[in-house]
Amino acid sequence: MSRVSTVRAWEILDSRGRPTLMAGCQLASGRTGTASIPSGASSGKAEAHELRDGDPQRYGGLGCRQAVAHVNGEIAQALSNQLFADQDAFDITLRMLDGTPNKARLGANAILAVSLAYSRACAAEAGLPLYAYYAREMGNDSLQIPRPTINLFSGGLHAGGQVPIQDVLVVPAAAANMDEALSMTYAVYYAAAGIAEERYRYRLLRADEGGLAPAFANADEMLAVAVEAIKAAGYRPGEDVMLAVDVAASHFYRDGGYWLSDTPIDSKAMVDVVAGWVEKYPIVSVEDGLAEEDWDHWPALKAKIVGNALVLGDDLLCTNPDRIEKALAMDAADALLLKVNQIGTLSEAADACRIAKQAGWKVTVSARSGETEDDWLADLAIGWGGHQIKVGAITQSERLSKYNRLLIVEAQAGLPMESWPNVD
Ligand code: PGA
Ligand code: ZN
Repeated sequence: MSRVSTVRAWEILDSRGRPTLMAGCQLASGRTGTASIPSGASSGKAEAHELRDGDPQRYGGLGCRQAVAHVNGEIAQALSNQLFADQDAFDITLRMLDGTPNKARLGANAILAVSLAYSRACAAEAGLPLYAYYAREMGNDSLQIPRPTINLFSGGLHAGGQVPIQDVLVVPAAAANMDEALSMTYAVYYAAAGIAEERYRYRLLRADEGGLAPAFANADEMLAVAVEAIKAAGYRPGEDVMLAVDVAASHFYRDGGYWLSDTPIDSKAMVDVVAGWVEKYPIVSVEDGLAEEDWDHWPALKAKIVGNALVLGDDLLCTNPDRIEKALAMDAADALLLKVNQIGTLSEAADACRIAKQAGWKVTVSARSGETEDDWLADLAIGWGGHQIKVGAITQSERLSKYNRLLIVEAQAGLPMESWPNVD
């Protein structure tokens, strides 16, 4: 039970230099919390509405002054001096105030910033580290460090589209803890950078999430070079280090065809291509292997790769409880990519997480391509019992703030690491 004294927001910049929000919440007890929120580029169509100013003279229309004004005006007025039983009650007040199904009026960015700032203030009031507070709220009493899936190569909307698929990620499967996971990934990342320089004359430049983006001829080559980099780093692909892939297929799906090359292929052929990758490379997780509107073919994809790789829904599910229920009914996936700003409040994202876990799915807690240096995501992944965490490459401080937080919590709390993909 916490009484809000004030809330406030400011416009700050994300890792692409685009405006986003930081919000602060002060409770009547004097405890405070702040939170900064991220923003996507390869966004799902069903995501909650990110409110942008639309003024072409300022940040190309991407300003967030209106969203900030909503926090400092209408939202502050509605929350000040109000007593809330818990996060759910707080978030319901915000949703009712907004009054739209996708938070379009006040902006999901305004609402989420306040929702998160409140949770930080409540954690401070409870005298708990943020991850422990999130764990208590989730009823999670077996805390662990999620296994990171770490970006190696980038394509798609995060790297100028030189290859249509978005990410090839490293899964340090043999790592016993976060410390080992990061040092193994570092070795693979710089082995890959060496190959990229030698073979593709690629100077070490980074895509939005820090991945390397040499001019691969196609997705197959991207995966093959990833395997080569694992070997060059002295690890055994498929044993020490596995791969994950974010196909992000919604973003090269047009007119019923998948444009992996100049000739589009239909959904059935796309399922075969993805299944072929899983067979040929040590891939343990496939995110958005099909497009978000191609619901009908997801069950076939799942049937083909289940047991070998997770069928992970990002754009498909948009962290939306209704869409997760639909995927469950259709048997379309077995893993949730959880991005809190896709749905716009902490408690709705918690519902999504609960539904997925109750169904026996894996949950990958994910950052966005436009991030801030805030590290709440690491605490959320631990507290909510995420099996995996995906925050980008092992480079750039908006990514490393999350990895560093995981390192610190691991060292301080002595938590074990999720066993996936090795045992289960
Ligand atoms: P986004 O990309 O943040 O640009 O949506 C991340 C992802 O697709 O997983
Ligand atoms: Zn994705």
